[in-house]
Amino acid sequence: MNHTALITGASRGLGAEFARLFASKGTNLILVARSEKELNDLKDELENTFNISVRIIAKDLTKPENVRFVYDEIKDTGIEVDYLVNNAGFGDFGHFSDTEWERHEQMIDLNMKTLSYFCYLFVQDWIPRKSGKILNIASTAAFQPGPGMSVYFASKAYVASFSQAIAYEFQKYGITVTALCPGPVRTNFGIAARMQHPNGFLKDMKTPLPGEVVAFGYRAMMKGKTLVIQGGLNKFVANLVRFIPRKWLITLSAKVISW
Ligand SMILES: NC(=O)c1ccc[n+]([C@@H]2O[C@H](COP(=O)([O-])OP(=O)(O)OC[C@H]3O[C@@H](n4cnc5c(N)ncnc54)[C@H](OP(=O)(O)O)[C@@H]3O)[C@@H](O)[C@H]2O)c1
Repeated sequence: MNHTALITGASRGLGAEFARLFASKGTNLILVARSEKELNDLKDELENTFNISVRIIAKDLTKPENVRFVYDEIKDTGIEVDYLVNNAGFGDFGHFSDTEWERHEQMIDLNMKTLSYFCYLFVQDWIPRKSGKILNIASTAAFQPGPGMSVYFASKAYVASFSQAIAYEFQKYGITVTALCPGPVRTNFGIAARMQHPNGFLKDMKTPLPGEVVAFGYRAMMKGKTLVIQGGLNKFVANLVRFIPRKWLITLSAKVISW
């Protein structure tokens, strides 16, 4: 029988690539995001290419009642989810006090609350059956504070910390939790984050293709790894920052973000 993956933020970017990769492995999909048309197009593409079924649920996941709705809808159909990919997320460029509070709140809700709530709901089903895999998309932003994107960086630090802690708690139930930390990837992220340059602070930097990041994350999830950093340079920098005095690190981080 085919496995089923629930992927949030699947209408574009890394989420859509995750959907393509899971589909190529014969995994049925439940795809969630706000953009119904993009989700429908992806459903058609995947069902026409692979022998799988795709269900889409168009919902704004900043709202906890919608998280519950998605979970209940899946339960009502009797589908058992095997893989949960908490990918939906966004950043916002600008000083904390200059940004509308609603944006901060939505980021906090989506990047942390929704991700945690989905983990909470699904593990209730997975503990008795002693299986299930979670992939939470963090970021290399998790490893230092980010002046100019303060809430986003803090939210990703939460994802990395939370994922490692619950990975430890759930290991006795055969449930794995993986935090994937990509560095910059060319997706819609920079535009959604209202960065001045369409590629944000990446500008013309060479960055991995979304497919590379997704393949790396998928392998790590399947192996049940706990925290993985994509790319040699990202891994080096993420380890290096542990040895840089905090004051310097924050100044450096601010300069990179506003570059
Ligand atoms: N790109 C990077 O440089 C980078 C680096 C490290 C980590 N990440 C992380 O990777 C994940 C995916 O980002 P991406 O780069 O693929 O960005 P993206 O191209 O902007 O895609 C973001 C996805 O999240 C969905 N989403 C946003 N707000 C939502 C909401 N309120 N409710 C439901 N879905 C929502 C979007 O769908 P709708 O707009 O249709 O709702 C879209 O499918 C994020 O968690 C991001 O923080 C990205």
